[in-house]
Amino acid sequence: MRLKLIITFLFTLFLTEISNAHNHFPITRDSEANILKGKVLYEQHCASCHMVNLTGAVDWKGVDKDGHRKAPPLNGTGHTWHHNDELLHKIIKLGFAKLMNNYEGKMVGFGDKIDDAGIDNILSYIKSYWTDDIYEYQISMSK
Ligand code: HEC
Repeated sequence: MRLKLIITFLFTLFLTEISNAHNHFPITRDSEANILKGKVLYEQHCASCHMVNLTGAVDWKGVDKDGHRKAPPLNGTGHTWHHNDELLHKIIKLGFAKLMNNYEGKMVGFGDKIDDAGIDNILSYIKSYWTDDIYEYQISMSK
């Protein structure tokens, strides 16, 4: 089930031509100001599901009462850092709904509420939680 979803996801990504390219990756955590801006946006738009401190929903590997997957942790204990910046930016901007066929889960896009710079600041904030080794790894795959 999960494998099928992942395959559908990758296949859809492959087919989906999203023309608004961003060439500002990798996104670092070098700017304290950007991290703070990202924190404000995160708390406003994301914390309700991904929780403060980015810990994700309780028992995030299970499903919620609607049968949907729960919000995973973004703090480096989940698999967020396996995705490069281009994909993470798309997930936040477009949501899984626009990236996968027949997606019925809860991760919608925020492109109508948060601009690209804001999304990048949220990513800086998310990365500020990661250990050095996963941060470096994810930066190297985002280049
Ligand atoms: C209504 C609940 C909800 C809100 C609000 C929400 N998310 Fe999510 N998010 C989810 C769920 C659920 C998933 C898992 C998607 C799935 O498998 O269906 C997810 C997945 C993700 C992923 C992929 C993580 C991974 O490890 O693969 C990222 C990145 C993400 N969200 C970032 C954000 C950001 C940034 C915000 C705020 C701008 C946000 N989300 C707001 C529910 C939410």
